Amino acid sequence: MSKDKLWGGRFTQPTDKFVEEFTASIDFDKRLYHQDIRGSIAHARMLGKQGIIPMGDVEKIVKGLQEILSRIEAGEFDFSVSLEDIHMNIEARLSEKIGEAGKRLHTGRSRNDQVALDIRLYLRDELVEISAYLELLIDALLFQAEGNVDVIMPGYTHLQTAQPILFAHHMLAYVEMFKRDIGRIEDCLKRANVLPLGAGALAGTTFPIDREHVAELLDFPAVTRNSLDSVSDRDFALEFLSCASIIMMHLSRFSEELILWSTSEFRFIELSDGFCTGSSIMPQKKNPDVPELVRGKTGRVYGNLMALLTVMKSLPLAYNKDMQEDKEPLFDTIDTVKGSLKIFADMIREMRVNAETMRSAAAKGFSTATDVADYLVRKGMPFRDAHEVVGKSVAYCIANRKDLPELSIEEWQSFSDRIGADIYDAITLEASVNARKATGGTALERVKAEIERAKVGR
Ligand code: ARG
Repeated sequence: MSKDKLWGGRFTQPTDKFVEEFTASIDFDKRLYHQDIRGSIAHARMLGKQGIIPMGDVEKIVKGLQEILSRIEAGEFDFSVSLEDIHMNIEARLSEKIGEAGKRLHTGRSRNDQVALDIRLYLRDELVEISAYLELLIDALLFQAEGNVDVIMPGYTHLQTAQPILFAHHMLAYVEMFKRDIGRIEDCLKRANVLPLGAGALAGTTFPIDREHVAELLDFPAVTRNSLDSVSDRDFALEFLSCASIIMMHLSRFSEELILWSTSEFRFIELSDGFCTGSSIMPQKKNPDVPELVRGKTGRVYGNLMALLTVMKSLPLAYNKDMQEDKEPLFDTIDTVKGSLKIFADMIREMRVNAETMRSAAAKGFSTATDVADYLVRKGMPFRDAHEVVGKSVAYCIANRKDLPELSIEEWQSFSDRIGADIYDAITLEASVNARKATGGTALERVKAEIERAKVGR
């Protein structure tokens, strides 16, 4: 091809080779081989049923594709960059093997609807797997919540001690987040689980195909309704990347807490050795690498969402080669989210909870100040006045290096004569936690009920 060019000897050959490499997707889309073969078998069967190709050819195609599948699975298939992508690698091999019949497979189909089908088939299985990983993580959180159900820790706002809470309540907050993530993934599945095949290159096909039959063979509950949209829609991938970003955001917040809680300053938890590494210079170090890496990987998952949003932005209908750039962000996100969820589920299950440190931290920082105010309200004082009284008593404690439970009854009564000896029982950590009984609160009985609810309600 380059021989007739004056500079061909020096340039064209390597340039052509580079263009070939530059435009090829086989290095990453080969992971769609199973879906591609599955889709082709269904397509061939439909072509046969509709009398578009001879039944004898269908048999050869199916057998040939099944052999190719085993070759790929055995690692014996030679993927070729000059055949560009997984679709043409498989089709070319099929024609090599079975001749004429193989060349009939692509009747009434285009790589544009074929690739859309392959991605949807791939993603829908991965969505189910990701949901299962989310369930595993929820199980691990419930395991920790149940095993430490009466452990009290400080609850924070602004990372300043706020009110005592149950550690289990904190774990259940993440259960809520991951349950919503499952809901989002299930919702995403609804729109991914639609058959695009039959759109052809963009306008449909002149052959009397039966799309509903292909949908049935491939277990799709619905078929797409517009051929242009069928080949140019990647909303389902974007939806997944958004769901994945939210999952990673949740994991990253959790990571941040685990990292903080493992410091020698906090010591609320200990991550098991298997999830940490040491330092090559500082012998005392045990670094929380796993949560740190998950927090870091959140960045690439967000990046992948931005990448595909940007690829899709401004694309005129219908298919454009730009869309080949959908796969790497998608695959990378699937791998990253699955890996992060799996490692988190294991790490949380093995995490050791330091109940004493949490409890003593919960007792500091005047964490029951709100309970004193609520006590005064129950004695008839308006909340704003109570807030003021307790503020003064906290200031007194700070000045006198005391804690609220250490104040004598005389000291208490110097702030308000409504305070009686029952104040001491009202401001223990247990009293503080257990008084918060309304739905969603941190009271022990409420948290126990929510654990049960989370176990059965899924
Ligand atoms: N490898 C291509 C992709 O991933 C397949 C579709 C190619 N279609 C085309 N008209 N060149 O998008």
